Amino acid sequence: MRRRNLADLEPGALDERRVLVRVDYNVPLTSDGAVADPTRIRATLPTLRFILERGGRPVLLSHLGRPKGKVVPSLSLAPVAPVLAGELGVPVRFVPSTDTEQALEASRDLRNGEVLLLENTRFLPGETANDPALAERFARLGDLFVNDAFGSTHRAHASVVGVTGYLRPAVAGFLVQRELEALSDLRQARRGPFVVILGGAKIADKIGLLEVFLARADALLIGGAMANTFLSATGVGMGRSLVEEDSVTLAAKFLATGGNRLHLPVDLVVADPGAANADQSMIVPVDAVPAELAALDIGPETRDDFGTIVREAATVFWNGPMGLFETPGFETGTVALARATADCTAAGGFTVIGGGDSASAIRKAGLSEAVSHVSTGGGASLEYLAEGTLPGIEALDPAEGSEA
Ligand code: 3PG
Repeated sequence: MRRRNLADLEPGALDERRVLVRVDYNVPLTSDGAVADPTRIRATLPTLRFILERGGRPVLLSHLGRPKGKVVPSLSLAPVAPVLAGELGVPVRFVPSTDTEQALEASRDLRNGEVLLLENTRFLPGETANDPALAERFARLGDLFVNDAFGSTHRAHASVVGVTGYLRPAVAGFLVQRELEALSDLRQARRGPFVVILGGAKIADKIGLLEVFLARADALLIGGAMANTFLSATGVGMGRSLVEEDSVTLAAKFLATGGNRLHLPVDLVVADPGAANADQSMIVPVDAVPAELAALDIGPETRDDFGTIVREAATVFWNGPMGLFETPGFETGTVALARATADCTAAGGFTVIGGGDSASAIRKAGLSEAVSHVSTGGGASLEYLAEGTLPGIEALDPAEGSEA
């Protein structure tokens, strides 16, 4: 079913209204607490500008990190406010609470041309539990609701789903709309070969979706930390590599059923897990990882194998880096795959990068413009591709005339 978006609202629907916007400002921070990458902030600007230009008063809710229902000062959204103000060119007031009288008053004091940013929703225990009482308190902060938090739309949390039970209209913002368009194009892309590349560390989140990708993809390339768990399931020793022990049995099951569509690394770059760079690293076959070292990147033979498969693809979806790409020298595998994906795009392929880390990696390689779409959501894009919808989308108003 199609969902209503901001542009579908009646003329005047935003004028002098408090527009409660769920955004995903779960941005990386530097060690001194500054915003390290404003991509997710910039991605919401079209929605915020649209609201401001029509006399609406945006009240923003977001999470940052996983503070587990407690106030964690290092995960405050305070550093986001000046960055957003700079990007948007309007005053952004920050209030260090979320469901309080202070926040409610600040939302009522808001004037046209101003934005209010509230504190991290995950400081409140009811957020991830989708507590209805909290959702109702969130709903009081606005006169209508906009979900522009694509990266969080797979989470049935109070500020994403619960709030829509108490606040209507509830519509999609332009980022959510753009993401859904690109990802549904990818879902419907019938052009093969369809290649899925999975890496990164949030293994438990992703492993359950493998079945869906195994059924649909012509090749599933597994690298990064995810590959360690699969390699461990083949019985080889992974030294001090990051292996998610709870997922090894499931990985073994996929290995048994995946056949020749499932591709694992054949060689790895290994080093001390705390290495500051790749100076002391070595390249080993996957069955020869030294006990005191960890796999931190895919090796050259794997780079070539994976690169060839990607260049020959017609459709590519990539989620998760191939190694510890933030550390100098361990980005080689990730950058090589970014280049292969760009080459595939240049040859007419349709390519989508999903997720914070993969998006940073492609930006680092200077290739963001050389792929078809870079999604701001990792888990969200994976889940949308697998399921065809997301809890936060289902919660929005149906578009007029759309069928259930
Ligand atoms: C993300 O970074 O993928 C989103 O902000 C969701 O974060 P989460 O995985 O902690 O829910």
